[in-house]
Amino acid sequence: MTVYQATASAPVNIACIKYWGKRDTKLILPTNSSLSVTLDQDHLRSTTTSRADPSFTHDRLWLNGKEEEIKEGGRLWTCIREMKRLRKEEVEDKSSSEPKLSTYNVHICSHNNFPTAAGLASSASGFAALVSSLSHLYSLPVSSSTLSLIARQGSGSACRSLFGGFVAWQMGSNPSGSDSLALQIAPQSHWPDIHALICIVSDDKKGTSSTSGMQRTVETSSLLHHRIKTVVPHRMETISKAIQEKDFDTFAKVTMADSNQFHAVALDTEPPIFYLNDVSRAIIALVVEYNRLGVEEGKGYRAAYTYDAGPNAVIYAKKENVKEILELVVEYFPQREGAFKDAFGLFGGGGKVVGKLPMGFNENVAKRFEVGAVKGLIHTRVGDGPRKLGDGEALLNDEGLPK
Ligand code: DP6
Repeated sequence: MTVYQATASAPVNIACIKYWGKRDTKLILPTNSSLSVTLDQDHLRSTTTSRADPSFTHDRLWLNGKEEEIKEGGRLWTCIREMKRLRKEEVEDKSSSEPKLSTYNVHICSHNNFPTAAGLASSASGFAALVSSLSHLYSLPVSSSTLSLIARQGSGSACRSLFGGFVAWQMGSNPSGSDSLALQIAPQSHWPDIHALICIVSDDKKGTSSTSGMQRTVETSSLLHHRIKTVVPHRMETISKAIQEKDFDTFAKVTMADSNQFHAVALDTEPPIFYLNDVSRAIIALVVEYNRLGVEEGKGYRAAYTYDAGPNAVIYAKKENVKEILELVVEYFPQREGAFKDAFGLFGGGGKVVGKLPMGFNENVAKRFEVGAVKGLIHTRVGDGPRKLGDGEALLNDEGLPK
C-alpha cells in the first residue's frame, strides 16, 4: 500500500522592517509591508512531517510531542483547509488519475530544534514547515509566493519563511489578500556574509503576545498611522537598495531605526507595551558605541540590533566583525560554561569566548551584568528557504503517530 507522506524543514526569519498591525485580522493582512533576513536552518529550524491516509478519522497535529487541538476556524485549521483546496484545484481537478488526497484526513507532526523557553518565536518557522510539508505531500505545482499566501494565514511573519535570503512581505491592497505575499529580494548567495548573533535575554514576566499587542496598537496608537503611511514605504525602498548594493552601513541604520520605531509604537499603545528591558537597552548601548568607533575609524556602522516582541536581541553584522562583537557582548554579559556553541569555529579548541573590549571603546556606556542576564548566545547567518527532507527524517511512525 502506498504511504502518502512528506517531511520538510523551514527557517526562522527576523525582520529588519517590522510587521506590526493588521488591517484584516481573519485573513492576516498587514497595515504595512515588512522585510526580513532568513536565518540558517543548520542552527534554527522547524521540521514537519505530514501524512494523508483514508484510515485516519480526523486531522491531528502534534507539536513538540504534544497533541494540539485543531479548532474549526482557527489558524491551523485554515492552513490545512487551504492546502487541501489547492490540492483539489491544482492536481485532482486537472487529472482524474491522481489519488484524491484532499479528501483524506492528515496527521501532522512538528518539532522545533530550539527550546520554546528561549523565547524565540517559533510560529514563523512552524507554519512555514507545515505548509511546505503539505505542498510536497500534495505535489503542488505552485510557487513559494503562492504558498506564502497560506502560511500568512497561520501567522503573518510565517509568510517570509517560505524563502531564503532577504525577503519582503508586500502588504498588497486586495481585500481578498491575494496580493499580500512574500517575495525574495535577494537569495542567500547574494550576501552570504551577513551573520546574526542572537542574545537570549532572561525574562520572567509573561509578555504581551504579538497578536494581541499589535491589535491594541492599531486601535490606540496615533504614531502607528504616521509609521505606516510615511515611514515604512520609504524604508522598504532604502533597505532593499542597501541589500542589492551590499551596503551594510545603510542596512544597519534602517534596521535599528525600524526596531526603535516598532518599540516606540508599542509604547504609544494604550495601555503601553514594553518589550525591552535593562539588558536589551544595555545591548543597544554597546552596539551604538561600537558603531561610533566604526565611524571614527572610517569603516561606518558594523552592527545592527533589532528586537521583536520580547527582550532578546538579534545583532546583524558582517562575518568579519562577529568575533569582536561576541567578545564585546561576553565582556558585559559573562556566559555560563557551554552556553555558547561556536558553530563557526571562531574560538578554536574549546570554543570558549573570553570577554574583550575593542580598542578605544568607552566602557562606561553600560554596566557589567551578572552571569545569566544573557543566558545564551546563538551565532548564525543568512540561510536558505524550506528544505524537502527524506523519509529517514520523518517524525511519524508506520502507524502515522509521532515516533
Ligand atoms: C514583532 O507574525 O507573530 O515579530 O500574525 O498575529 O501571528 P501574527 O503575528 P506575528 O508577529 C510578528 C511581529 C514581529 C515583527 C515581524 O516579525 O515582522
